[in-house]
Amino acid sequence: MQAIRSLIIPGWSSDVRLEGKTAIITGANVGIGKETAKDLAGRGVRVILACRDMAKGEQAARDIMREVKGAKVVARQLDLADTKSICQFAENFYNDEKALHYLINNAGVAMCPYSTTVDGYEMQFGVNHLGHFFLTFLLLDLLKHSAPSRVINLSSLAHTMGKIQFDDLSGEKDYHPVRAYAQSKLANILFTRELSKRIEAQGVMAYSVDPGMVNTEITRHLGNPIVTISKTMSFLFKTPAEGAYTTIYCAVTPENEMVTGGYYKDCAFAETSRAGQDDGTALKLWAVSCQLLGIRWR
Ligand SMILES: NC(=O)c1ccc[n+]([C@@H]2O[C@H](COP(=O)([O-])OP(=O)(O)OC[C@H]3O[C@@H](n4cnc5c(N)ncnc54)[C@H](OP(=O)(O)O)[C@@H]3O)[C@@H](O)[C@H]2O)c1
Repeated sequence: MQAIRSLIIPGWSSDVRLEGKTAIITGANVGIGKETAKDLAGRGVRVILACRDMAKGEQAARDIMREVKGAKVVARQLDLADTKSICQFAENFYNDEKALHYLINNAGVAMCPYSTTVDGYEMQFGVNHLGHFFLTFLLLDLLKHSAPSRVINLSSLAHTMGKIQFDDLSGEKDYHPVRAYAQSKLANILFTRELSKRIEAQGVMAYSVDPGMVNTEITRHLGNPIVTISKTMSFLFKTPAEGAYTTIYCAVTPENEMVTGGYYKDCAFAETSRAGQDDGTALKLWAVSCQLLGIRWR
């Protein structure tokens, strides 16, 4: 079984140290985000766990500090489903911190029943795309000031099923949980592409990541049959630590070996679907996202 597993799930390691760097990781209290935080803390990074539930965030910070000697980790409140919370998080961050080298937009909600964010956007589009788009907008000055710096956006293979439904972004006319997730994960890729063009000259790089099939709480809305399958077939899934490899790869690999705006899986550059390479759609999504959030980002 182990031999089969090692064929499907490639290993990876790096001993790069990142002392003096600061990272924000959204949704870092569990799953891939928590493992990414633990790894970066072990490399000397000061890590801010941006979590919507402070009790879970503080518990995760304690866990990491217990496991990683000398870890510099703090939890801060951030609900990506609420633009006021995002503003408050960014304001506190500017007050408390002097630099930001890594913004890891990791948090995600997947295939949930229809619901809306505080601001009225469909939850998956609102949290996975718009929330991170807004957070990046607010933190960009500090990322530029701290350059070289990086934005890493967690996407998914699910993007290949995605289409940006400009006439029904919020799924009000016709909501389907899988379609909405796929749309949000395609949006992560298109955002990364467009963002990279706008910030490369200022020394800020952007990458999107497919972590693979990872055994985490992401299945929480999928119902018992799917959860049971993922538990019985768990040897086919990456552990959360393995699921964090590609994110960490995008953080530690020298810039000249990376393609800004690119999509990475299994610690290597990968092709997206054709929709993921559509610069016209990326530009339109950018404009619509700014309009929905009431921001000017040129
Ligand atoms: N697992 C996979 O197989 C897989 C595959 C492809 C892509 N991905 C992507 O990888 C990323 C990490 O997922 P995961 O597998 O680690 O999932 P997970 O274990 O469910 O973790 C998701 C994290 O996002 C947080 N979150 C959800 N809504 C939030 C909100 N409104 N504000 C702030 N944080 C919020 C969760 O917080 P709470 O704990 O408070 O809910 C949790 O910390 C996601 O973007 C996901 O789409 C995962």
